[in-house]
Amino acid sequence: MRLFFATALALGLATSAYAVDSNIKTLKVERGLSPEGQKCIECHAEKQPGIVADWKMSRHGHVGVSCIDCHQVDPGSPMASQSCPGVKGTDIYMSVAVTPKTCARCHSQEVEQFNASGHYRASLQYHEADGRNYEGMKALMQTHEGQGMEKYKNAADMTGCMQCHGSVVTLDGSGRPNKEGWPTAGIGTQYPDGSVGNCVVCHTRHRFNVAEARKPAACASCHLGPDHPDIEIFNNSKHGHIYNSEGSEWNFSSAPDAWEPGDYRAPTCAVCHQSGIGDLSTTHNVSERLRWNLWAKRSNVRNSPDPLSMLTGDGVKGRELMKKVCSNCHTSLHTDNFFEQADNHIELYNEGYFDVADKMLKELKEKNLLKANPWDDEFQKVYYHLWHHEGRRMRQGAAMGAPDYAHWHGVFELQQDLYELKHIYKQRMDSGKIE
Ligand code: HEC
Ligand code: HEC
Ligand code: HEC
Ligand code: HEC
Ligand code: HEC
Ligand code: HEC
Ligand code: HEC
Ligand code: HEC
Repeated sequence: MRLFFATALALGLATSAYAVDSNIKTLKVERGLSPEGQKCIECHAEKQPGIVADWKMSRHGHVGVSCIDCHQVDPGSPMASQSCPGVKGTDIYMSVAVTPKTCARCHSQEVEQFNASGHYRASLQYHEADGRNYEGMKALMQTHEGQGMEKYKNAADMTGCMQCHGSVVTLDGSGRPNKEGWPTAGIGTQYPDGSVGNCVVCHTRHRFNVAEARKPAACASCHLGPDHPDIEIFNNSKHGHIYNSEGSEWNFSSAPDAWEPGDYRAPTCAVCHQSGIGDLSTTHNVSERLRWNLWAKRSNVRNSPDPLSMLTGDGVKGRELMKKVCSNCHTSLHTDNFFEQADNHIELYNEGYFDVADKMLKELKEKNLLKANPWDDEFQKVYYHLWHHEGRRMRQGAAMGAPDYAHWHGVFELQQDLYELKHIYKQRMDSGKIE
């Protein structure tokens, strides 16, 4: 309710006209909208009826937050444009890109939480010159994947990395975004107004629906595949089994912070990583409930407030918060034992696999027995797979209760990788040559 009043004030509206009732499906949207605001809707209903239909069905439509509230910008904004023929020659300037800075006018808490999370760094950490992975990543995308051809330099980034991680949006002379960075469905997009992030990846425009974001599909478009198969892991878990057999009948539409067990029988990604449940409030900081960094070469306990750190978050507190999620449906014995099983497997990865492989890598490097090109060197290729693919599957499979990923796609493959690394290592050390 506090949000609603603040919003009404920001819009300069009479609060009495906007009581919010989450059961209302259609509401006259004209009321309270300025004539300019109404024009956008009327004309765009003909030009892109899909956009207007989505917006009408949304909470924004119901409470009178309309096109102009999100797309209008100051004439002085770097993104100011009159590219829409409907506003050309008027004193209205707009931007087709709508950034988190705009959402923050009414949803500042969500944006602050997002800005403290690992999602925030998704584009920064590999597009910025000071990003720790930048040179190696750039070489992978441009020299190896793009075959060093100038024309195709950005092809791999534009169609792959950037569509999950986010882009750097640049503008043409008239304030419209260039093709190198827009459109993008990536999560950490960097906008010309200085804001970072993309709020529409989980609750897509122009529905902005919390029910959508609570379902595993909202995360699955990015969290899948050989190197972070979180949706496959979820499907392999007991929780996924229950969701897949009956989730279509659950209630996903409760008001924020009022979505609780009973509405659902088993947790989705959002329940464990984001939603309010029991004593816990909703968070847009997906790093808040984590102990380890399971994507890294070696997993360590998180201990940094800096979202650009490899160890974003507070791992000790993170584990407590995650256990609170489980406590809504399981006993402490069930939860404690589960995490001991999982942590033990993660530590096995660290000590039994990564440390051993890394020691060999360092010795080979010292003796000049590694090729300069890591992507054309058998040892370095297997080493990469060991931590980046198999190793992540082993750790994430254990942490989220997926035996096929903890084992067959995980530790089983890892022991094979390690035998291969040892074999190549011995050959190179004995002969003093790269095979
Ligand atoms: C008289 C009709 C009309 C009115 C009124 C109108 N628009 Fe448009 N708008 C269009 C058309 C036509 C396009 C171009 C669509 C295309 O290129 O496919 C467009 C494009 C846009 C774009 C994309 C701009 C780009 O650079 O590609 C946005 C965003 C937009 N309008 C928002 C608005 C907003 C906000 C308002 C109200 C302040 C508004 N429009 C009023 C007809 C209108
Ligand atoms: C709550 C904020 C919000 C409201 C309200 C809103 N938009 Fe948008 N709109 C967005 C966001 C976010 C994007 C995606 C921008 C990006 O990718 O940078 C977008 C994108 C667009 C685009 C480009 C989409 C495409 O697929 O080509 C158009 C056109 C547009 N909006 C028009 C409208 C119109 C017309 C309305 C009113 C019916 C409206 N918007 C209401 C936030 C909003
Ligand atoms: C001018 C103020 C304003 C702006 C700008 C704005 N919103 Fe909202 N938003 C609201 C209001 C008011 C509600 C309804 C709150 C309620 O239902 O109690 C809302 C509700 C929502 C919801 C919950 C919908 C549901 O199903 O309950 C989401 C998600 C959301 N907004 C996302 C966004 C995003 C993302 C942006 C930026 C692209 C944005 N909003 C921009 C005012 C705004
Ligand atoms: C548009 C793509 C995209 C979507 C959708 C998405 N994520 Fe992510 N997520 C990423 C990327 C990219 C990273 C890695 C960011 C980094 O570390 O640079 C990430 C990282 C994470 C992390 C680890 C953060 C850390 O600190 O290491 C968690 C947990 C996470 N996402 C959970 C979720 C959940 C839950 C959802 C759905 C509600 C979701 N994500 C939706 C792209 C996405
Ligand atoms: C299908 C979506 C997707 C694509 C495509 C993708 N990533 Fe990722 N990436 C993710 C997700 C999700 C994570 C987080 C994994 C986790 O937390 O376990 C991640 C993690 C990372 C990380 C580690 C996190 C960090 O902060 O250092 C780096 C670096 C990275 N990706 C770079 C890239 C680059 C460069 C490309 C293209 C060559 C790429 N990614 C392609 C989704 C994607
Ligand atoms: C990784 C997925 C994801 C991203 C990215 C995301 N949201 Fe959400 N959002 C959710 C989920 C899940 C919920 C429902 C939480 C619940 O069940 O309690 C939600 C709920 C909301 C709500 C309803 C009120 C609340 O806090 O529960 C608002 C408003 C909102 N989001 C705004 C935003 C804004 C603004 C951004 C961009 C900074 C954003 N969201 C980015 C997943 C996401
Ligand atoms: C039952 C709760 C639960 C569900 C459901 C769940 N997760 Fe997790 N997730 C966890 C736990 C626990 C961890 C490990 C946390 C830690 O570090 O201690 C984790 C770890 C992760 C990580 C690794 C973060 C890192 O450090 O690299 C990502 C990414 C992730 N989850 C995404 C997802 C996605 C996407 C879904 C849905 C497809 C999902 N999770 C479903 C509990 C859950
Ligand atoms: C909304 C309720 C709910 C939440 C929250 C929840 N679970 Fe579950 N979980 C279930 C249900 C229901 C089952 C299926 C029980 C069965 O197999 O009969 C289950 C099964 C499991 C299983 C498989 C073993 C077994 O007893 O069946 C594990 C392991 C598990 N959960 C761990 C966790 C962990 C760890 C968390 C927190 C990170 C968690 N769960 C959160 C409801 C929940």
